[in-house]
Amino acid sequence: MVQGTANWNTEQTAEWLQEYVDDWVKFYRKHTNEGNVASYIPLLKEVDPDLLGITIMGRNGMKISSGDIGQQFTLQSISKLLTFIVACMTRGISYVLNRVDVEPTGEAFNSIMHLELNELKKPFNPFVNAGAITVTSMLEGKTSDLKLEPIFELLEKMLGYRPSLNVDVYESERDSSMRNRAIGYYLLEIGFLESDLNITLETYFKQCSIDVTVDDLAKIGVILASDGVDPDTREEIIPRQVARIAKALMLTCGMYDASGKFATYVGVPAKSGVSGGIVAVAPPRVREENLPFLDGCGIGVFGPALDEKGNSIAGIRLLRHIASQWDLSIF
Ligand code: DON
Repeated sequence: MVQGTANWNTEQTAEWLQEYVDDWVKFYRKHTNEGNVASYIPLLKEVDPDLLGITIMGRNGMKISSGDIGQQFTLQSISKLLTFIVACMTRGISYVLNRVDVEPTGEAFNSIMHLELNELKKPFNPFVNAGAITVTSMLEGKTSDLKLEPIFELLEKMLGYRPSLNVDVYESERDSSMRNRAIGYYLLEIGFLESDLNITLETYFKQCSIDVTVDDLAKIGVILASDGVDPDTREEIIPRQVARIAKALMLTCGMYDASGKFATYVGVPAKSGVSGGIVAVAPPRVREENLPFLDGCGIGVFGPALDEKGNSIAGIRLLRHIASQWDLSIF
């Protein structure tokens, strides 16, 4: 374990940590060949499966980046975190939670089984597709672009630039995603949708297709680690209560039916997407030992080779290693 310096917030310790993270990325890149890139969205198949990149951004301003950090990738399911936050900010927390629950399903992200089996009054949580599409239908505006605007505005506030829509990925998912259409029709039948079905699905496919980098995910993570406040500007971007609920959902449902294992072996709130991105949040923690990022940090990872649950295979292993070396677990 990296130990033995009085102050982690110095250039020298940043260099030191950089060497460790470079080694770990090199080591875990070998694990990419144990997974497969997502193939059910045709365009995602074309990505190099060996890519692996990470950015760790401390609340104290320290930033460590390593591997394929310039690579852009689409948010995919990580967008569900943002639509949930925007829906809570625009419609109110109780409005949203009256219409979508906060319970893990233990099922795959695109499962429809629970909805039908249990005759639920609402979908299980905002991170399975049924819940996410329901939340997207709550966004205000009559067109998909109007519904997406507050998501882009939130991203622009957090990242300092307006990310772009990857039109090719959007069209690829729009033209292939029969399962999401089936989920949409089922939600329409049971009366859960608050907007026109086609507009809702168009918005959902577009939110999944916003391009980001690991730096962007780390910035989103560090803002959540600060309960919604940008640590650089001290501006509150997300209300504290919304940030807290979002983190609770990330911990319990963010890695789908692998959320229990992720909480056990990594121990921080996180949200993954099938393009291979993961945003993780390490809140400030109290430890006797001298450890890096005690003040909290956000972590963005990209590794498009996925495990059977749809999470980045090397990304999870890298996060697990870092969390154990730096004792990042919230437990
Ligand atoms: O709904 C879909 O199929 C995708 N656009 C998003 C799914 C996703 O990222 C699941 N993540 N692990």
